[in-house]
Amino acid sequence: MGSSIAFLLIFLVFVGRSFCLAEWNLSRRSESEGLCAQLIRPLGYPCEEHTVETKDGFLLAVQRIPYSTGGIKVKPGPPIFLQHGLFQGGDTWFANSVEESLGFILANHGFDVWVGNVRGTRWSHGHISLSEKEKAFWDWSWQELAHYDLVDMINYVYSMTNSKIFFVGHSQGTIMALAAFTQPDIVHMVEAAALLCPISYLGHITSHFVLRAVSVHIDQILLGMGIHQLNFRSDMGVQIFDSLCDGHIDCSDLLSAITGKNCCFNNSRVDTYLEYEPHASSTKNFAHLFQMIRKDTFAMYDYGLLGNMKRYGHFRPPQYDLSEIPKSLPLWMAYGGSDALADLTDVEHTIKELPSKPELLYCESYGHIDFILSVKAKDDVYAKMIEFFRSQGGSNSY
Ligand SMILES: *[C@@H]1O[C@H](CO)[C@@H](O)[C@H](O)[C@H]1NC(C)=O
Repeated sequence: MGSSIAFLLIFLVFVGRSFCLAEWNLSRRSESEGLCAQLIRPLGYPCEEHTVETKDGFLLAVQRIPYSTGGIKVKPGPPIFLQHGLFQGGDTWFANSVEESLGFILANHGFDVWVGNVRGTRWSHGHISLSEKEKAFWDWSWQELAHYDLVDMINYVYSMTNSKIFFVGHSQGTIMALAAFTQPDIVHMVEAAALLCPISYLGHITSHFVLRAVSVHIDQILLGMGIHQLNFRSDMGVQIFDSLCDGHIDCSDLLSAITGKNCCFNNSRVDTYLEYEPHASSTKNFAHLFQMIRKDTFAMYDYGLLGNMKRYGHFRPPQYDLSEIPKSLPLWMAYGGSDALADLTDVEHTIKELPSKPELLYCESYGHIDFILSVKAKDDVYAKMIEFFRSQGGSNSY
């Protein structure tokens, strides 16, 4: 094992030197390069681009589809906010056909659809003073995505619409939500929340690829090499994948090796998905997720004894206390029997610590990505989610 780590290290140092970035320029982009112009308007939907500045200076893109297509301008229905997962962006909600994609389906049901994009993704607009080439630009994990990005985007939508907001999150979007909901900041602005592949604890993750990455400490290797941006579109990212797979995991089906077997993935659309995904994230975010996997905790970033003392005033990072999420917040969760990232044991752990009893939808054959991209999710998942929102006072137009 030691020698394989050493090999990986040397290998990465080698490729690290020569890596060329096939990455997005995250600075302010023109309207024509935004998600509205690229993906949503071409399919006949009205779409507005908004920019939200976070408390720590990141400029996030938020899109709004204020009413559905059909040429009839109606009064916007209740606002609904969609928060994507790791290595994904707002495009993920629109990546299948109009009939199959949650973003379009919600618009068709009369919701006022708002789409979040976290820092570092292709659609976001960089930072007021930092450049993406600087280490400080990537000095964050999902903790900042929860405390800043999510809270600031929800605040913005709330102030624009003057209305409580329905929330939908997938994967990392649910970590952000569950962490943020334990704080006093945003719950009062949220009407009800639907969590797809809910994650707070990660101790029982079964993803072969992730477990391998954890066991060779790929996060620490990359940080040690001064690589702070995690971008699997770069040559470097591809090399990392190859070196992790080589001789250890069957990566002929890489997606399954990472997410678990997805029942209803449309292989003929892969090129469409890869047009924008995977989006970039920070290596520190990986490090934080790996800490959760190793320690089975739902806690803030662990800076080590002294670092923690300095930042938090304790030797150990503060835990997020799920019992702080108000019972009055209606929760709905959908999870899959074939999900290698949101394992059943971990989902049950989350549910057990919540004061409320969330409504649950179990999809036996679903893997992690099915909840976004399954060709059957429209009936299996979204119809039931919309039923839940309606029971909480959501749109009744269709
Ligand atoms: C799969 O994707 C192809 C290509 O976009 C599309 O023509 C087909 O209808 C999709 N299949 C399903 C079941 O959605």
